[in-house]
Amino acid sequence: MENEQAIGVEKSDYNGHFQENFETIAIRTQSERTQFQEHSVPLYLTSSYVFEDSEDMRASFAEEKDRNIYSRFTNPNTSEFVEKIAKMEGAEAGYAFATGMAAVFSTLAALLNSGDHIVSARSVFGSTHGLFTKYFPKWNISHSYFDVNKPETIEALIKPETKVLFAESPTNPGVDILDLKELGRIAKKHNLILIIDNCFATPYIQNPIKFGADLVIHSATKLIDGQGRVLGGVTVGREDLIREIYLFSRNTGPALSPFNAWVLSKSLETLPVRLEKHCENALKVAEFLENNEKIQEVKYPFLKSHPQYAIAKKQMRLGGNVVAFQIKGGIDAGRRFIDSLQLCTISANLGDTRTIVTHPASTTHSKLSPGELESAGISEGLVRVSVGLEHIDDIINDLKNALNN
Ligand SMILES: Cc1ncc(COP(=O)(O)O)c(C=O)c1O
Repeated sequence: MENEQAIGVEKSDYNGHFQENFETIAIRTQSERTQFQEHSVPLYLTSSYVFEDSEDMRASFAEEKDRNIYSRFTNPNTSEFVEKIAKMEGAEAGYAFATGMAAVFSTLAALLNSGDHIVSARSVFGSTHGLFTKYFPKWNISHSYFDVNKPETIEALIKPETKVLFAESPTNPGVDILDLKELGRIAKKHNLILIIDNCFATPYIQNPIKFGADLVIHSATKLIDGQGRVLGGVTVGREDLIREIYLFSRNTGPALSPFNAWVLSKSLETLPVRLEKHCENALKVAEFLENNEKIQEVKYPFLKSHPQYAIAKKQMRLGGNVVAFQIKGGIDAGRRFIDSLQLCTISANLGDTRTIVTHPASTTHSKLSPGELESAGISEGLVRVSVGLEHIDDIINDLKNALNN
């Protein structure tokens, strides 16, 4: 990708020999230092960059030079953030967006043409479902959904005009797991672009490119920020595809703000330690719920009772921080439970330090019809908990008290 130089990593910080170690990549991947020799990366709050002369400007626009031109294209902070995520995911290149949805939309819009077809898991984030069903048909881009529990049905949905195979794993909100290696095999066999929304896992837990994904998308708003402060998104993967996505985005303007990129790059420094604790807490919450007689069903990738436990163990380092469950008594019991919580918050976000509880059927996935909800595996009584970093005893006590109510 152009501007490699602008996102170059200072040699004294990053000598390449610890390239394999995630924690070091997270902390030591940094834009070049300025003359002030700052230790922590500065915030480059600038919309444009200065040229030596008219020839310098012409050559820069002609891409004869690798350099920042305008912050809708690249900025040192966004480039640093992209560079980190690309290294963490084992990707060749990437581009950062204002939100996760800007990443999903721009990635697909850049690569698809009128007449193209997407094969996707039915269980996708509500707004992604909105793109497939409401907006892409306007441009004659169609889709077919497969059931996450029936991956054997995928190949039958592939048509000559199918270009993309799309999935989340774990899914939002049902935390279903898709076999990424199997998706990689199918995509390769049928020459499809495999796009994985890796938001629930983060690059610390799972690297879809290892299993054959061509592109990996993140809503950085979630665990990557991890503190409920800024919105962001990113797509990383094959250089030729990222080039198309970059050119589309350079013209259409969904770029991540430098300030948010600076925040997100700092957040990545602590991603591994945060994730270890998030997942430890989430597993304890899942085990507590599984053993509570008021609970009908609990889904967490690293619980042995999860239908795709074996696949989760194969492709994920940890189980993630989201637990999905159903309380006996359906929607009314579920709502009463949520309203009885004292510590956990009711909020639309996830991946925050604070434990967040939501009711997807009436909120994030409320645009789905009852039939669509059912086939996406979202029952009306489903409760989603994004387990935070409070003391585990306090989280469990809050859940226990609310269940007793
Ligand atoms: C799996 C998944 N993809 C994409 C998004 C969209 O991200 P954003 O809210 O940053 O646009 C979300 C948000 O919850 C999500 O959970």
